[in-house]
Amino acid sequence: GAAVEVDISGIKPGEKMTVEWRGKPVWIVRRTPEQLAALSGADSQLADPKSERKPSELTPEYARNEGRSIKPEFLVAVGICSHLGCSPSDKFQVGPQPSLPDDWHGGFLCPCHGSTFDMAGRVFKNKPAPDNLEVPPHMYLSDSKLLIG
Ligand code: FES
Repeated sequence: GAAVEVDISGIKPGEKMTVEWRGKPVWIVRRTPEQLAALSGADSQLADPKSERKPSELTPEYARNEGRSIKPEFLVAVGICSHLGCSPSDKFQVGPQPSLPDDWHGGFLCPCHGSTFDMAGRVFKNKPAPDNLEVPPHMYLSDSKLLIG
């Protein structure tokens, strides 16, 4: 399918925009400084914190970092759970909850079988989803223009 050009200038911190690429929902999340700060320190609870598995399929080389992104502020990820393909829900602001990881600072929760992902789409350990959310190929054409695909 064709690449998709997206104007990201209207996305405010803490907001998510969804666009379609190759029939899949692609999320563009503008993370707040607090959400970025929370990405550090959870590695021991994550299944693949550095996105080292199947790098070519799931995470392009330029997104194999803590935030899984080119620009720290923006997460670009395919919104399809790596377990059986449900669509995870936004859980950007969560407090401690018994069924969730102890220091989960929010991210995405799959309603089908309870997999949890952080704000970089990294899956927590011991969840049905085996892998992090896919980061599609993408690049910035300018400060406000993102090209997906
Ligand atoms: Fe997401 Fe099963 S489809 S946890």
